[in-house]
Amino acid sequence: MAQFWKPGTEKPRLVEDEDGGVIFLSSSYSSSSSGYGYVSIEKQRQRLPVYKYRTAILYLVESYATTIVVGETGSGKTTQIPQFLKEAGWADSGRVIACTQPRRLAVQAVASRVAEEMGVKLGEEVGYTIRFEDISNPDLTRIKFLTDGVLLREMMDDPLLTKYSVIMVDEAHERSISTDIVLGLLKKIQKRRPELRLIISSATIEAKSMSNFFLSSKRRQALEGEELRPRLEPAILSVEGRGFNVQIHYVEDPVRDYVQAAVSTVLLINDKEPPGDILVFLTGQDDIDAAIKLLTEEARSNGKNSSGLIILPLYSGLTRAEQDLIFSPTPKGKRKVVISTNIAETSLTLEGIVYVVDSGFSKQRFYNPISDIENLVVAPISKASARQRAGRAGRLRPGMCYRLYTEEYFLNEMSVQGIPEIQRSNLVSCVIQLKALGIDNILGFDWPASPSPESMIRALEVLFSLGVLDDDAKLTSPVGFQVAEIPLEPMIAKMILSSNELGCSDEIITIAAVLSIQSIWFSARGAQKELDEAKLRFAAAEGDHVTFLNIYKGFLQSGRSSKWCHKNFINYHAMKKVMEIREQLKRIALRLGIVLKSCETEMQLVRKAVTAGFFANACRLEAYSHGGMYKTIRGSQEVYIHPSSVLFRVNPKCVIYHSLVSTDRQYMRNVISIDPSWLTEVAPHFYQQQRHNPTIH
Ligand code: CDP
Ligand code: MG
Repeated sequence: MAQFWKPGTEKPRLVEDEDGGVIFLSSSYSSSSSGYGYVSIEKQRQRLPVYKYRTAILYLVESYATTIVVGETGSGKTTQIPQFLKEAGWADSGRVIACTQPRRLAVQAVASRVAEEMGVKLGEEVGYTIRFEDISNPDLTRIKFLTDGVLLREMMDDPLLTKYSVIMVDEAHERSISTDIVLGLLKKIQKRRPELRLIISSATIEAKSMSNFFLSSKRRQALEGEELRPRLEPAILSVEGRGFNVQIHYVEDPVRDYVQAAVSTVLLINDKEPPGDILVFLTGQDDIDAAIKLLTEEARSNGKNSSGLIILPLYSGLTRAEQDLIFSPTPKGKRKVVISTNIAETSLTLEGIVYVVDSGFSKQRFYNPISDIENLVVAPISKASARQRAGRAGRLRPGMCYRLYTEEYFLNEMSVQGIPEIQRSNLVSCVIQLKALGIDNILGFDWPASPSPESMIRALEVLFSLGVLDDDAKLTSPVGFQVAEIPLEPMIAKMILSSNELGCSDEIITIAAVLSIQSIWFSARGAQKELDEAKLRFAAAEGDHVTFLNIYKGFLQSGRSSKWCHKNFINYHAMKKVMEIREQLKRIALRLGIVLKSCETEMQLVRKAVTAGFFANACRLEAYSHGGMYKTIRGSQEVYIHPSSVLFRVNPKCVIYHSLVSTDRQYMRNVISIDPSWLTEVAPHFYQQQRHNPTIH
């Protein structure tokens, strides 16, 4: 084990110097290594690197339409800048300061932190909004955190976002699909609202290219002519925050199983290295839960040294109590091990991390317009991400990063930057949102990074088949407008609308609520057999969607009991969330004139409604090899039913899936059996070319 590592050193420079900015400030920051445990909140704020730039930031926001702030994670961008703005009067006379984040968990975490720093109740002066959860007050909230997706929704009611004086688009380097759309739209809004100020902030950004994006050629010409107020060329401010080296260790040979390697490395650090918390980067709930189980077992058998470990998962969908544990200080004599998804890379800062273990992977969305398949893939991260991850170890004092890949791989094979999400996603949701905002020429839209024309055409085709767009690619009335109004993916929205006609809206709304959360099952953690048995109690021959209905019924009959959930391996918090989302969907449905109606036991109607939304995801059984091989009807891609599905090994002839995940194969998650003849009924255009195919009829 001792030879496992080949120590090397690399000082990750997290911010490249920019010489092209209008204003460039730089100073190195060195924090005391005493930690933050015993100082007042005001002192903590003053110690953050952005504090030194308070005056500069306020000056730039006053003078420039757009300010780009680049600063390392933990330097205080997200929590401090909105407060500086508020203190300087940007939230006076009923105006609101907005700060967007790509991730919901980050929205909740930073909003509660800022409320705490300001000594106010969350939901009043400081609030937040994420989909299906609005903890803000239109009269009181002056600083509002929200996902960029929610900001897009707000544009549908208020296209110029008039209530906001400053909008800070945070984590811009993540280049999430919604961030890119928001940036394109804000650039348009700025033309109409010269008083609006934008701050674009991120941990690493190609500040120059972002700056060029906001500086169109027309503006450049205008600038050459006369002095304008506010100045239109963006200002760039660089906040340098890290003062500590991170020693990088690489593995000598590629590891076969990164979960096992991560666990061994944590134990090695715990045995050999001085106190300090450990942050492990894995990819998603599955491998995080697997790692926790393995680590708990190995730590137990490892004896006394490992008894001081506090092992915590970090992924979206955690409850508030679980989040609090992550952020609370580590008790003396203990060592926290946080096993996280990408979320801890830049969105959240955890105090006390001294060691980072980087698997080199993250879950990423990939879309292939040729096969029309989008799935979540565990894929290698970029060098930029690897540097960010390493940087998490050096906040308080010199740290160490253990990379579970070779140095040779890092140097020669890792890509420099990730690909913006818009260039690797299915664009159905994106297109409908732009259409709903009146942007008709989508190919000509001013994108920070252009999506491929093929993906665009695929999206238009699906939306046409869904009856959402007409021949002129305009939203249809009423279906198109209704689908755009429902804050869910267009396929789910269409499924809800169809359920109204079919008379099963009560059931479909429950299904839609369940599909919009990650999982209602309790993660098995070593009890796979019991979990499978629990699933069998609810399993419906039709598939997962109908199984959800059985669970929902059982939950109601139990009087919404947490004990009942526990007994059946169902996640009680997830069920509570389902109930909340269901209530909200019910309200939206009523507003759209959908009358809630149950089809009682007529499950065929439910399956038809699912088909009306998800026809594009239809697959047919091809062979019984490997537990049942399917092919997508449209693209002939090989897919398999995920082992977590109740239809695993049942293998109906024709199925529809909700989403795909890819590991060794492409797996369908949430699967329902259908009658193939329904496909040409609900989507004749989409399946036209397949008419000759005998299995469709
Ligand atoms: O946005 P940026 O990464 O630059 O930093 P931030 O999120 O504003 O965090 C600044 C500091 O606030 C962190 O270093 C933490 O010390 C603290 N913080 C915290 O203790 N708890 C949170 N939920 C968020 C921030
Ligand atoms: Mg931040």
